[in-house]
Amino acid sequence: MRVLLTGGAGFIGSHTAIVLIEHEHEVVILDDLSNASDEAVRRASRLAGTEIPLVVGDAGDRELVGRVLAEHRIDAVIHFAGRKAVGESVAKPLEYYRVNLGSAIATLEAMAEQGVERFVFSSSATVYERPGPLLAEDAQVGLDLENPYGRTKAIIEAIVTDASMANSALQAAVLRYFNPVGAHASGNIGEDPKGIPNNLMPFVAQVAAGVRERLRIFGDDYDTPDGTGVRDYIHVVDLAEGHVAALEALAPGVLTVNLGTGSGGSVLDVLRAFEAAVGRELPHEIVARRPGDAAISTADPTLAHERLGWRATRSLDDAVRDAWRWQRQNPRGYAD
Ligand code: WQD
Repeated sequence: MRVLLTGGAGFIGSHTAIVLIEHEHEVVILDDLSNASDEAVRRASRLAGTEIPLVVGDAGDRELVGRVLAEHRIDAVIHFAGRKAVGESVAKPLEYYRVNLGSAIATLEAMAEQGVERFVFSSSATVYERPGPLLAEDAQVGLDLENPYGRTKAIIEAIVTDASMANSALQAAVLRYFNPVGAHASGNIGEDPKGIPNNLMPFVAQVAAGVRERLRIFGDDYDTPDGTGVRDYIHVVDLAEGHVAALEALAPGVLTVNLGTGSGGSVLDVLRAFEAAVGRELPHEIVARRPGDAAISTADPTLAHERLGWRATRSLDDAVRDAWRWQRQNPRGYAD
């Protein structure tokens, strides 16, 4: 298929582009580069062995999306575009609603106008109102969430469902990501957060690289085996393979699946895995809990296996090794 990746220059999109090409699909990227680098597309092209066309522009611009769909004779869209920083969404809710809802609606409208019927959406495990262990897709989803970012994802899920009710030809997949981590095994592409990373794995990577002084562990008094928060860390290449499996399984209607491993790792597990990869201890301290954090969030990945024939195959150690290789080779990310 010829697949348009909106937001395809970002962390998950760039890895998905490579895996799609490995599966004989063709890829076009639309990205406004507001939180991504064209260098990621150049490197992904090199890794994939083919030039990936990059259109620099806004997925919220319906006419532009329509032109790209028509000019490249696109068969399917994977919609990654959007803002993704949880803390920032609390400070800038209107921007998050405008950008995330606006780009999803504009992309779906442009698809309808151009007769493109295949749509894969980047959702998030944050749509579950009550995080916990082994969350299945029928767990409660709604707007009673900790932050506007999560609400944008829950609303877009509802929009996709409504669009599907109105157009029975629409073939959609909603993918609820757990915690994407790691990097391409080459170490040439990876996660390149701007400023101080909010998320655990890139933060630890920067501590290991000497860019940050020490990791602050947000609470060690949770009701978990070691007292620190437990998450389902999924290697970004496993996640990318999940997108290809979802694309190839599309059928009329909306299929909603978790993309996670089913295993939990604690903050201390991540720290220890990093220390093993780096070969020394990393400075850290225990501080207060971060507001809004759950004790545990892991996926029940059964449905993805049943419906997509997909499951994650890479371990937390694999992800940490790959994240460290990327960080070591590119201490300043794509700026190097
Ligand atoms: C993981 C664990 C922290 C940083 C968020 C979003 C989610 C998704 C991924 C999307 C928790 C602890 C973290 C640090 C720490 N986003 N931690 N010190 O909160 O599970 O998920 O990012 O685009 O939607 O909610 O991920 O990596 O921030 O935290 O101790 O410096 O690490 O308390 O237990 P989270 P995270």
